[in-house]
Amino acid sequence: MVTRDHCYYYHCCYPHLPPLIHSPRTFSSSSSRTRIRMVRAWYMDDSSDDQRLEHQLTPPKSVSLEELAKNTGVIYYKLDPKKYDEEGKLSRIKEERGYNYMDVIQVSPEKMHNYEERIKVFFEEHLHTDEEIRFITEGSGYFDVRDQEDHWIRIEVTPGDLIILPAGIYHRFTLDTKNYIKAMRLFTGEPVWTPHNRPADNMEARKNYILQQSKGFLVK
Ligand SMILES: [Fe+2]
Repeated sequence: MVTRDHCYYYHCCYPHLPPLIHSPRTFSSSSSRTRIRMVRAWYMDDSSDDQRLEHQLTPPKSVSLEELAKNTGVIYYKLDPKKYDEEGKLSRIKEERGYNYMDVIQVSPEKMHNYEERIKVFFEEHLHTDEEIRFITEGSGYFDVRDQEDHWIRIEVTPGDLIILPAGIYHRFTLDTKNYIKAMRLFTGEPVWTPHNRPADNMEARKNYILQQSKGFLVK
């Protein structure tokens, strides 16, 4: 469970992690020379076209990771998708945040049982009573989260992205047009994946989230 004692800022617990990067770009890791794409986030249009498209506004309105962290409490880490084990970064994040459960999920028409049904559930606006933590190892997709004025922000995730959605945040997930993602799911204790569809405003997790948002998410 997230408390005010925890760090809400995606890089501050680990000063050795990559520095704050506000704009979409790629970089080469000096150790591996691997091209790693940094996360992109933007405000969405309200078109009813295919959910797997980008849905950028015209003109596009991007959201920096700092804005995302301050306004929504979403935390983001960048890891090397191939060398995270030897780098020890994932282990450090797990230890720091108390994540002791981990499994792997693959989402695609071929690899997921009841794909059509499951993808509809993922894209229904919902919240959880605990954090939703995903570390992307292959493929890509979009997490959509509501900002403090109830507008949708779309967050693109690609290999190496570890994203933490706080308990109580309204959100949804979709694949992009490549139709494939593989991710680790992390959790503290026995996992609870239950989505609570909006409206869930009377739930304790939602009230706590709104309270935290009104105070401002902690940035150390
Ligand atoms: Fe969720």
